[in-house]
Amino acid sequence: MSSRRNFLKQMSGAALAASAAPSFLSWALPGPQNGAIEIPGEDGMIVRSFRFVDLETPVEYFNAWLTPVPHFFVRNHMHEPSELNSEDWRLSVGGEVEKPLTFTHSELSKLEAHSVVNTLECAGNGRSLHRPQVPGIQWGKGAVSTARFSGPRLRDILQRAAVKSTGKHVMFRGLDEVPGKVPPFIRSIPIEKALDSDTLVATHMNGAPLTKHHGFPARALVPGWIGAASCKWLTEIKILDSEFVGNFMSPGYRFPNQPVKPGDAVKPEDTHVLTGLNVKSVISGPLDGATLKTGKVTVHGAAWAGEADVVKIEVSTDGGSNWNPASLGHDQAHYAWRLWNYEWKAKGGDYTILSRATDSQGRTQPSTPVWNPSGYLYNAADQVKIHVA
Ligand code: MTE
Repeated sequence: MSSRRNFLKQMSGAALAASAAPSFLSWALPGPQNGAIEIPGEDGMIVRSFRFVDLETPVEYFNAWLTPVPHFFVRNHMHEPSELNSEDWRLSVGGEVEKPLTFTHSELSKLEAHSVVNTLECAGNGRSLHRPQVPGIQWGKGAVSTARFSGPRLRDILQRAAVKSTGKHVMFRGLDEVPGKVPPFIRSIPIEKALDSDTLVATHMNGAPLTKHHGFPARALVPGWIGAASCKWLTEIKILDSEFVGNFMSPGYRFPNQPVKPGDAVKPEDTHVLTGLNVKSVISGPLDGATLKTGKVTVHGAAWAGEADVVKIEVSTDGGSNWNPASLGHDQAHYAWRLWNYEWKAKGGDYTILSRATDSQGRTQPSTPVWNPSGYLYNAADQVKIHVA
């Protein structure tokens, strides 16, 4: 079986040329029937980038509480490691510790495993919906998925290494193949989040070993936080006395402290590093542009809130003038999205249907997104336009 890079090398020049066309990348629809190129092991995904594999989950797949792995979005900043096997792989733990350690895969798998159902969302999810548009991968609504992640708790690993009192941040390094002068994928999280009993070194997703796209053989899982916190192909954990300084902490993944307008200069010291996700809902049906028959229509979707819990989802069928409570699905876990639905008797006409979620911290989705230069954390009330014939 050829590696992903070999596969990409084998792809025709025409396919790669197509990948460079922004309009194709932004608006490619799921599945080969719409001209998108299939990535082996992935199924009906929207391809946002071929160079580094970036795959979006079509919202139709938001009807399962746990996203099947072939439908789970993929976000890579660079090439996936081409040669990875569990025999040679090592995870080192060092820095501000009394006992630096190195784990083999089999040593890691002997540690007690814990499971967390987590909705993982890329900070750039929804970037294409910001106006004016901002540069970066033009994600639609589907750079988000939910899975049951399992593996040892990070805190058990840290306890074995005996973190010194000077250890305040925990740095993760991935094994990505770094093209040219691109800085390696290294980020850090504060020690408090690292010691949380739900923060994992995950080796499994939905009961099976991680696939390569999702970080085999082990990744960090920092639940409720932006996806970038959950470093894939983890090879090094280093305890630092201060936050890691590097491209993926600054200027990457930072948000202005104050509202900014397009064109405003934002100084780095007026920004903060992104951590927890926003409250957000997405309508997974009916689909935008659908034509439906009059009568009973079920509006449905998913809603999540990072480290908070979703407490309410409301649906408007009249463009936002009136809001009605939706029913919440039975499946729930602290860091996982809630599926929801709302039954509506539709008469003929054109409709703008909206959904908005409220969480346990009292946050509600705004009607207009909070614009920022990198297009992070888009969470305006979702909307679809439909026609009832
Ligand atoms: N880890 C490494 N080593 N390299 C990466 O490019 N991307 C991050 C994170 N971990 C990334 C990484 C980002 S931005 C996101 S949103 C999540 O992985 C996506 O995880 P997934 O591809 O399993 O969905």
